[in-house]
Amino acid sequence: MNVVGQPISRADGRLKVTGAARYTADIALAGAVHAAIVHSTIANGRTLSIDTTNAEKAPGVLTILTHCNIPRMNPTPKPWSHLHPHGQGYLPLQDDRIHYAGQPIALIIADSLDRATYAGTLIEVEYQGHPPALFDLRTAKEDAVDPPQFLWPVASSVGDAENAIAGAPITIEQTYTTSDRHHNQMEPHATTAVWDSDGMLTLFETTQHIFGTKELVSIVLGIPLEKINVVSRFLGGGFGGKGYVWPHTLLAALAARVLNRPVRLQLTRAQMYSMTGHQPATIQTIALGANNNGKLLGIRHDSISPTPVFDNYIEYAALSARHLWGATGGISTNHKVVHVNRNTPTAMRSPHEALGHFALESAMDELAYATGSDPVALRLINDTETDPLSGRPFSTRAMRKCLTEGAARFGWERRTPEPGSMRDGRYLIGQGMAAAIYTHWRWPAKARVMLNVDGSATVEAGMHDIGTGTYTVMQQVAADALGLAPDKVIVRLGDTRLPASHPAIGSATMANAGASVLLAAKAARDKALALALTGPDAPFPGADAHNVVIADGSLRLENRNLNISYSELLARNQLSSLTGEADYNPIEEANGPKAVFSFSAVFAEVRIDAELGLVRLNRFLGAYDAGQIINPKTAHSQAIGGIIWGVGQALLEESETDPVTGRFLNRNYSGYLAPTNADIPELDVLFVGDFDEEASPLGAKGLGELTAVSVAPAIANAVYHATGKRVRSLPITIEKLL
Ligand code: MOS
Repeated sequence: MNVVGQPISRADGRLKVTGAARYTADIALAGAVHAAIVHSTIANGRTLSIDTTNAEKAPGVLTILTHCNIPRMNPTPKPWSHLHPHGQGYLPLQDDRIHYAGQPIALIIADSLDRATYAGTLIEVEYQGHPPALFDLRTAKEDAVDPPQFLWPVASSVGDAENAIAGAPITIEQTYTTSDRHHNQMEPHATTAVWDSDGMLTLFETTQHIFGTKELVSIVLGIPLEKINVVSRFLGGGFGGKGYVWPHTLLAALAARVLNRPVRLQLTRAQMYSMTGHQPATIQTIALGANNNGKLLGIRHDSISPTPVFDNYIEYAALSARHLWGATGGISTNHKVVHVNRNTPTAMRSPHEALGHFALESAMDELAYATGSDPVALRLINDTETDPLSGRPFSTRAMRKCLTEGAARFGWERRTPEPGSMRDGRYLIGQGMAAAIYTHWRWPAKARVMLNVDGSATVEAGMHDIGTGTYTVMQQVAADALGLAPDKVIVRLGDTRLPASHPAIGSATMANAGASVLLAAKAARDKALALALTGPDAPFPGADAHNVVIADGSLRLENRNLNISYSELLARNQLSSLTGEADYNPIEEANGPKAVFSFSAVFAEVRIDAELGLVRLNRFLGAYDAGQIINPKTAHSQAIGGIIWGVGQALLEESETDPVTGRFLNRNYSGYLAPTNADIPELDVLFVGDFDEEASPLGAKGLGELTAVSVAPAIANAVYHATGKRVRSLPITIEKLL
């Protein structure tokens, strides 16, 4: 029986529920001291003086670092890349300038966290302040400028969208907005930095990118690469917020060097709002031109988002309009930024796509009503077999299956299209749907697999399990390739002493790091096979490899009824292990003749108390094409997690800014609303994809983030269906419905 495709439970489940899994801040090092950050209360200006006299005298204080005495750092590399992934270009404690509220201005190291924190309250700061530049919905269009390219081209144009829209019998043109949001991972960001006597720096780090952290720390702190190790074995939520290197990591490493002692630095919940990235708000304008039957002629999608005065992060909200639907006349997209006094935004679960689809798929619903079309039928007639931007055919695109099988399972045919036409007692019932496309990333990844003489195997990859089940799925992949039971496979991840891999971001782990594990396991198996056929003491001399079956930890020569276990084979060759290695590099495939993306269609039913403006999700169904599903259980968990993220985006999440001070206001779980169990009904998940050989040797496409996309427009469209009110700004809060 194949292990791949089975819904096996998490390899690390027991460790997690018993507390045996050690997260970064749990790792206790002898002699470790504690750092606390003091941050700016103003958002724009400079510090005139930072008086540390009283703080230095406070009990337990070992040292205080400010811009006056901290060692200098090298600038972050420009341009930004996934290899050198700095969270922000402005480095901590390097000058007296203040660019955002919550910017670190001092670091106190003491013998306990309480003492460091207390000493921080004794620091006296004199500021010269100016009013902060903010992202203002009323003025953003005038303030917006063209940013340099970041991840993708800033603008795109295929055909003549303007002409197509101008000449279309039906047009929709609307502005949609999304709010600032924060990741709010349960596990706060933390670093423990320790230098050993050989000048080796080890960083125990809450990161989705151990090798990127190593590279960036090497560049910014001027430490040779071979003198840095980064370790991250478990992560209590990343969601992109731990994909890049943020100032606290650099501060912890420097403080440990200054004191020559291990230093632990963990952000407070409130500091997570300014010491690491967030998802920036967007103002998006969509224009659709269509025939009377809803066939799209032209699409224009423009987006504006805030970025700091010192960086050019772009939220590519208009990205998906380049790829999702065909439009015969043309498609144009553009992105602009407004420079504000704010820390740098970053990727947050389904960045770009989850924001852009709210606008695009809300506009499609508006088009459905404008043309009297059924929303599912409208999408079926605009489905495309070729990527509109590149003209390349999609490798696989099960959009039609997502739409039709999803609709059937949801019972879409029982929906009456008239807004306000469905009720359940005093509640209005609304049903809405949306579709989605998601980027498929290709990155190089190395892996090593050892077949051991005791009959076990060890997988080693510098990949991470960010809570998604990587330990488990890698076990499955290696078990199948080796013909072993999964519990015979030990998986080692999260350490830069292991073979180099890519960041655990972009829903790319299975397709890329997974492929390298598959290839390394096959290489180890092939070495065993070669030993059995042609080795010095070959048990199957002269046999044909095709007649050897490998299963249950043994090689079996079927036609001669011979059998030898891996253990015996290695023992008779005096080997303790056989090692297979893989250096998987899919960069050529990424530029190949096929366009690879994941797809979905999702369906939401809401129940609305019209008098209270209260929206509750009744039920939700997602149909996904993410290629081959390696583990239906962890995949299902990914999907329901993603849907819940989407519910937060749709109905609850909003980081609010004080317009006077420029500070984020609701810097805690008490003020930042996210879904709880009581907000979430049964979620139905359907996988309709097939093996995609262009996507990965495993046939898998990106899944995790796809599932958080288009939840918000499906809910917004359901709200419209229930109430006749089109809410074009997220989250859909009570006041917007009253
Ligand atoms: Mo994700 S936002 O690429 O961790």
